[in-house]
Amino acid sequence: TACDIGFIGLGVMGSNLTMNLVDHGYRVACFDLDQHKVDAILVKDASERDANAEPRVEGCSSYTELLSKLKAPHLIILSVPAGDPVDHVCNHLIDAGIHADDIVVDTGNSLWTDSVAREEQYKGKFIFFSTAVSGGEVGARFGPSLMPSGNPYAWTRIEPVLKAIAAKVDPETGKPLESFVPGKPILEGEPCATYIGPVGAGHYVKMVHNGIEYADMQLICETYHVMREALQMSPSDIAAVFRRWNEGKLNSYLMEISAEVLDQLDPDTKQPLVDVILDRAGQKGTGLWTAVSALQVGSPAQTITSAVFARSISSLKDERVAASKVLSGPEPVVHSDEQKEDIINKLEQALYCSKICAYAQGFQLMAIAAKEHGWQLEFGEIAKIWRAGCIIRAVFLQSISKAYENNEELSNLLMDPFFAEQISEFQSDWRQSIAQATIAGVPCPAMMSSLSYYDSYRTAVLPANLLQGQRDFFGAHTYQRVDKPAGKKYHLEWSDPQRPQTSIKR
Ligand code: 6PG
Repeated sequence: TACDIGFIGLGVMGSNLTMNLVDHGYRVACFDLDQHKVDAILVKDASERDANAEPRVEGCSSYTELLSKLKAPHLIILSVPAGDPVDHVCNHLIDAGIHADDIVVDTGNSLWTDSVAREEQYKGKFIFFSTAVSGGEVGARFGPSLMPSGNPYAWTRIEPVLKAIAAKVDPETGKPLESFVPGKPILEGEPCATYIGPVGAGHYVKMVHNGIEYADMQLICETYHVMREALQMSPSDIAAVFRRWNEGKLNSYLMEISAEVLDQLDPDTKQPLVDVILDRAGQKGTGLWTAVSALQVGSPAQTITSAVFARSISSLKDERVAASKVLSGPEPVVHSDEQKEDIINKLEQALYCSKICAYAQGFQLMAIAAKEHGWQLEFGEIAKIWRAGCIIRAVFLQSISKAYENNEELSNLLMDPFFAEQISEFQSDWRQSIAQATIAGVPCPAMMSSLSYYDSYRTAVLPANLLQGQRDFFGAHTYQRVDKPAGKKYHLEWSDPQRPQTSIKR
């Protein structure tokens, strides 16, 4: 029998997505340039299906063979590294005789503008559709969060497939349903997959997801750092604090795994593994892309950008080690147990408030980008599909989706009554935590960026008045006046201020 779906690229994500598809009743024809990976998926299927059941995957050794095994019109999913490999596969599919009404779905971490270009480039050859995937290995296998975008006709064909394999949420509580167990009934719940918009929009939203992911991770790391350095706590004591926080409003996947990482001992040396992991952060680029996009569209996203820079400075390991011997910091302060407990409690609120600002920045960036590109992004729906499956899944995404459901025109998450109230309640703890960290000399770039984002956003008059004065002084760049109609520009002859200010028409 013909296969329902062709799958190309059987790396970690690809092989897990393939098994997720077969769990949901799809027959999949598989291809990878590495024949071992094709063999491995056949073995995996054999080990997981009932002894006398038909194989659910078919291995292929060429693009032509893959196409020949599929029902028409063909539906092909790619999970290959972002960049050139995607075009490499697309061109091979053209050579193999793909048709104009066939659909190719790119699920890699592609740059969103590449997706836009590809739809155009492959028009007439096949329909290029983009679907960003979050959730890592386990998500891919048992339910990822999916951000599809592109040709609406293609979406009608792909929708049932993506909704079947996506993570599911209990609509009432917003909590993820237990992972789907192969052989057990299919989960009923709200799928974490919704049509985002024209091609590229889904990958843009995923890019911002990753920017928020960078911020979220960095903020957790900073609270760890304060506890480790300023409070001299052990990794396992910090893990216990994270576990406690994970019971409350900070409940999230990243909080949970951070506790697990901190509790892990190195099997070789038996000391905490975190102490032997080199403090030099890697990055594949999606956080950087978010920061670049924020700068380009002029959307303030300092927590996200700080998180990217925090990775950059971490990678200057040798320089930091040299500097640590030359540059001084404050003298260490010893804290009583009571003071420690108080600092930890405040830190929880600081992390929470900082996190709200990181999400506010991400949603604000999406709103500004959507306006620029003519996308109709549904922010309530986007928050909903991030409630399960993805790396930033967290209980408080339910509150974000509610905020946008209550007010579709919400200009900023901070202006939602619930979040405004939350920050107002906890801001004193937030400020004190940052002050403590500063006094102790522990860097908290993301947390500080969140607070300055909050303070800037709530300030009616910023010192940009002086800045405009400076610009006009040295370069006659003009300024507007608060007491004159908006848009009208003025210039002062700074060497002769008595001369009337020139009014310059727009
Ligand atoms: C996800 C992750 C995933 C990947 C990141 C890692 O949502 O599943 O974001 O896409 O793990 O790209 O990014 P860095 O290597 O840049 O940290």
